[in-house]
Parts: sequence; C-alpha cells; structure tokens
Amino acid sequence: MDDAELDVLLRNERYPRSAAYSGRWMVDGGMGPNAVWQAEALGEVMALEPGMRVLDMGCGAALSSIFLAKEYGVEVWATDLWIKPDENLRRVAEARLEDQVHPIHAEAHALPFAEDFFDAVVSIGAYHYFGTDDLYLGYYSHFVKRGGQLGIIQPGLVAEYETLPPPHLVPYWKWDFCAWHSPAWWRRHWEKTGLVTVDLADQLPDGWQDWLQWNEACDQDAGTPNREEAQMLHADAAQSLGLTRLVAHRN
Ligand SMILES: C[S@@+](CC[C@H](N)C(=O)[O-])C[C@H]1O[C@@H](n2cnc3c(N)ncnc32)[C@H](O)[C@@H]1O
Repeated sequence: MDDAELDVLLRNERYPRSAAYSGRWMVDGGMGPNAVWQAEALGEVMALEPGMRVLDMGCGAALSSIFLAKEYGVEVWATDLWIKPDENLRRVAEARLEDQVHPIHAEAHALPFAEDFFDAVVSIGAYHYFGTDDLYLGYYSHFVKRGGQLGIIQPGLVAEYETLPPPHLVPYWKWDFCAWHSPAWWRRHWEKTGLVTVDLADQLPDGWQDWLQWNEACDQDAGTPNREEAQMLHADAAQSLGLTRLVAHRN
C-alpha cells in the first residue's frame, strides 16, 4: 500500500492534531492502538503548557513523546524498556527535537529521575504492564511534583467481570488481557492509596472505533486483512472493550 492510501485509511476527525503526522510514520513505530491518537486524547484532558517537564513512561518508539513535544511545547523524557534509546534518538533527531525529547532506557521500577522532577507523567498503552500492583503508584507518583498531573490511557474493559474472559471473547482471549481494567477499577486502584486525586476516569469516547480503525489500517497495509485483534474487536462490537483513560493529580 502506498503512503497516500494509508493516510486515507487513518483519517480520523476526532484527532485533528494527529492529522498532521504521516500514517507511515505512525505505522512504522506502531506498538499498539495508535499512540499518537491516544496521546492527543490524553492531551485534550490534561493541562500541558510549554516548558513543562513530562515523563512519557513506556513510550515505545517515542511517537507520543515527539507528538507531545511538538504539539504542547513540553520537554519530554521518553522512557522505555523494550525499545533502545539509540533507536528512539534517531526518530527524535529526524523530528529535530534533540533539545526537547530525551530518550531513556529504564525499567519502570528503577527510574533514574529525581523525586518531584516532573510537572506531568503520562503513560500510553503501557501502564498496565507494571502499574496494576497496589504499591506501584507510591513509587511512580514520587517523580511528579505535588499538584502535578498523572495521565494514563490503554486498552481496558467497560466494566469488571466476575470471571474472565467475557463469554463472547473466549476464542480471542490471551491470559495477559487480565490487566485490561475498567475506568472504575483504575479510579479505585489509584484513589485507595490517598496519594492522588482522580480528576477523570472514563472510557475514551469512540475509543473502540479508533482501535478497530487502527488495526484494520495496519492489517490492510501488511496485506493480511482482519487479523485476530480486529476479529476480536468485531466480535465485541463495543460491548466490553475500549480504551480506558485516567487523569489525576498528586496530593
Ligand atoms: C504495547 S507497548 C506501547 C508502546 C507505546 N507507548 C505505544 O503506545 O506505541 C508497551 C511498552 O511498555 C513498555 N514496558 C512494559 N513493561 C515495562 C517495564 N517494566 N518498564 C518499562 N517499560 C515497560 C515496553 O517497553 C513497551 O514499549
């Protein structure tokens, strides 16, 4: 598929800022439901101001870090485990953001930052890999100033189920989807610590649709239409799956 066709498949009116970025760039660095759309969905409910220091935790290919730096003028520490910083630095240099986006290689439990360093910490499609532990927020929230913002967005269920998987998703379910939690679950998970106040916990409006559009575009581009994740989303038809978004501030 050529780049123009891909751009057409990835047109999405809900994300006007993302429309300025090439579909090929998004797909080449893609590691989950479009990181750039998700960064825009988080950016629209956070107060990001030029010059703020932002941690992008689990940034993958740093697409969201580049997007946040360009769109909001923030300085970003693009931190990830699986993707090496030299690879991300190449992308950052291509975007001419070497002074504004800093690629860091770190495990989520061994972060090389000073306490109270960040104005905001965000995590896109990643926090559920390390943040479901009851005690993790106590560690993570130390890196943001008091009153500073914490934002996450990732796949999640509309509501919690007594038993998993939901019956209609049995053919597609993988065991680690058990970390896909609902907005209400995340709200309680963070608020019960008393360390933060949750300002917003929602299912991203039309997030399920975005996720499916993204998968279908990637599948068509790869020449293997309707792979398993797209099949799962079709079978679900927004009953149980979506993108969970949470914004809080440190107490
Ligand atoms: C599904 S990818 C999403 C990447 C990117 N944010 C995106 O949306 O395309 C999940 C990311 O979480 C990161 N991650 C998972 N476990 C981690 C851990 N324990 N410490 C640091 N990063 C971790 C991985 O390195 C990976 O890049």
